[in-house]
Amino acid sequence: MARATRVAVLASGSGSNLQAILDRVATGQLAVKPVVVISDVPEARALRRAQSAGIANQVIAPDDYATRSDWNAALATALSLADVDLVILAGFMRIVSPVLLQLFAGRVLNIHPSLLPRYRGLNTYERVLAAGDPFHGSSVHYVTEELDGGPVIAQVRVRIGDHESIASLAGRVQAAEHWLYPTVVSWFAAGRLAMRGDSAWLDERRLASPILFSESGEALPDSDPASFPDT
Ligand code: GRF
Repeated sequence: MARATRVAVLASGSGSNLQAILDRVATGQLAVKPVVVISDVPEARALRRAQSAGIANQVIAPDDYATRSDWNAALATALSLADVDLVILAGFMRIVSPVLLQLFAGRVLNIHPSLLPRYRGLNTYERVLAAGDPFHGSSVHYVTEELDGGPVIAQVRVRIGDHESIASLAGRVQAAEHWLYPTVVSWFAAGRLAMRGDSAWLDERRLASPILFSESGEALPDSDPASFPDT
């Protein structure tokens, strides 16, 4: 039998996406083996979540290293020593180095709270509300050297209400992230997912556009979020 997919989760903050993954592993809904949680922030709640789940956890903070390249090397070494098959970025607020991306080519995922390629970078909720867009959402994508720019695998699309606040929108998007990310991780673990060139592939099919889900978790036939159909 093939070994369980060994995953590392990198998180800088609250770690609610980490928790969603750990919960599904604990209930047998997600067949991966979380082997280590790494944070760049010593007080990150994500580390305490890992402790509670009995998973190895480690602080690798840039301040503890003479140079950024030393920090990057420490991170790559920790992941290599843990013998991980998949690196999951979940609210990790640092850019990972090209060296690490080469070491784990096609094996690093991130979740970003927007319908990429819209709203790369920070403060996506503020920006989408200011722009008056009808939809927001979240994207799970492969990590490449381009910030929030790697091939997108799946997205959840959330309709923005008339009286939506940053907090309400963030709450809805994050609730959806908590099933979206484990779903994509399960595809990876089942060997259904690959990155080839600039594209994500699912079940040996190149994804011309990401797999798109509604807020309630239904796969939407129209998979072009930019078209914003009136659904
Ligand atoms: C998530 O909303 C994710 O989209 C973004 O950072 C947030 C992390 O939240 N990259 P948490 O730490 O998983 O609670």
